[in-house]
Amino acid sequence: MITAKQLVEKYLKFFKEKGHAIIPSASLIPEHDPTVLFTTAGMHPLVPYLMGQPHPSGKLLTDNQKCVRTGDIDSVGDASHLTFFFMLGNWSLGDYFKKEAISWSYEFLTSKKWLGLDAKRLSVSCFAGDKDAPKDTESAGIWESCGIPKERIYFLPKEDNWWGPAGKTGPCGPDTEMFYDTGKEKCGKNCKPGCSCGKYFEIWNDVFMQFNKTAEGKFELLKQKNVDTGMGVERTITMLQGKATVYETEMFLPAMNEISRLAKNRGLDASKRIIADHLRAASFILSEGKGIVPGNVEQGYILRRLIRRAVRHGKLLGIEGKFCSRMAKIFVEIYKEEWQQLKKEEKTIYAELDKEEEKFSKVLTAGTKEFEKLFRQNNGKITAKEAFLLFQSAGFPLEMTIELAKEKGLSIDKSAFEKEFEKHQSLSRKGSEQKFKSGLQDNSIETTKLHTATHLLHAALRKVLGAHVQQKGSNITPERLRFDFSHTDKVADVQIKEVEKIVNEAIQKKIPVQREEMSLEEARRQGALAFFDSKYVPDKVSVYTIAGFSKEVCAGPHAKNTSELGKFRILKEEAVSAGVRRIKAVLEK
Ligand code: ALA
Repeated sequence: MITAKQLVEKYLKFFKEKGHAIIPSASLIPEHDPTVLFTTAGMHPLVPYLMGQPHPSGKLLTDNQKCVRTGDIDSVGDASHLTFFFMLGNWSLGDYFKKEAISWSYEFLTSKKWLGLDAKRLSVSCFAGDKDAPKDTESAGIWESCGIPKERIYFLPKEDNWWGPAGKTGPCGPDTEMFYDTGKEKCGKNCKPGCSCGKYFEIWNDVFMQFNKTAEGKFELLKQKNVDTGMGVERTITMLQGKATVYETEMFLPAMNEISRLAKNRGLDASKRIIADHLRAASFILSEGKGIVPGNVEQGYILRRLIRRAVRHGKLLGIEGKFCSRMAKIFVEIYKEEWQQLKKEEKTIYAELDKEEEKFSKVLTAGTKEFEKLFRQNNGKITAKEAFLLFQSAGFPLEMTIELAKEKGLSIDKSAFEKEFEKHQSLSRKGSEQKFKSGLQDNSIETTKLHTATHLLHAALRKVLGAHVQQKGSNITPERLRFDFSHTDKVADVQIKEVEKIVNEAIQKKIPVQREEMSLEEARRQGALAFFDSKYVPDKVSVYTIAGFSKEVCAGPHAKNTSELGKFRILKEEAVSAGVRRIKAVLEK
């Protein structure tokens, strides 16, 4: 039986034979893209090249990219949805187009020399056409000439057959998707590829990236016509091995067996799968060696959610004692040969999982007890106010209360609960400040002041150099701030002086630093700079405003008034990489 490892090798070999250069997987943490938290697809690290920049390895590329997608987190637990997965891809950067892409997909899937899947069980979908792009009869014609009959070629609208952009703007285009028939009965008359009943298993997607989506929502033709494809390793190996779910393949099986061994309660397959998926994702995120640890903002927030959700499902299964690092060890064993950083970072992975599990177990034990008590006292109900009190007294997250209530068969009006949380905002200051506490390692007065200075610096750079300046990284120690930002040229001395002057002016004006909580959408509407974009963001963000100078979504903490800052001085300006500059600066008394 073919293994996942062999599938990956075959894929890369096939495309190498077709002239593609094999490139390594990029990090899960995007290096220079503040618009998304994680690498969500193989094309993501390739955006500049899809837009026309020459790639050092040429125009034809192939790889096996690690991806994290949290948009589907609620579907995890079924046969195939995962928050972390491997995506095989092949790219044409302005070289071949539909004909080669489709016929190679067909050849790789069906040829006995390669995967040898049953061509009769393959269906495909093509773009149905709309005001932005025409119906893709060309792709359909190519499929037909490969041997897929008309009745297994479906035309679907943008929601199904259009891919990208990965962020708000960027390369995108119509796609054609390949589905393998699992042999299940149709769920109804309208069951077809794209239906979620499980009959049609999507395994591969060829995207024809001809468009750039602009900030105004327009689709402009790109300089070049690209191909971007993505084959899900877990899904494809599941079909090749004739398994019903991704969890039955060797990519998960040892972990699933261990969970079943530890579980006291029978059944609950979805909980077992959630644990396996989430802890595999968490292990890989921690293995990136980028200092991302469970926290309250950005990647750390998602990492925390993944671990905490796994812990909670462990409790549902009746698993006793800590189990997260034990699961991570199994994943390190499964993947360590191909993904050596798992082994390299294993101590960090286990330590961070242990720490977070302990922290959360305490919250969970106390909170669940309290929930049960309230539920009994209230004759089987739970009100929004009580949910809030649970959060305030025990730090019990709202989503957890909602989940517990749902398990008890209560229907919960989430927005009413959220309103209650807002109403009590002043009461909950302590709680919410904990929730949104900064990613800064050290909350000393010095770092807090430097953090506020960083906001002023960011705003001043945008004033002096232009609105293309965006934060690419920030690192603060009690002694200095270090700020990386997008800008191509060296910043001239006069510009440095000008930036210093603006920041010092803001300090002299003794402006209060105001903090408000709002939805991310509202923050953006008010023109706040915001550096994350994922379906999976906190319900509320805090926005710090220094009137007349700066407005940013940020976790804080900050000085209360700019007058606390002293004198701002830039020590150094230098290049970090192409298009990214770095400033080091201090505050003097
Ligand atoms: N970028 C395409 C996808 O992720 C291939 O499906």
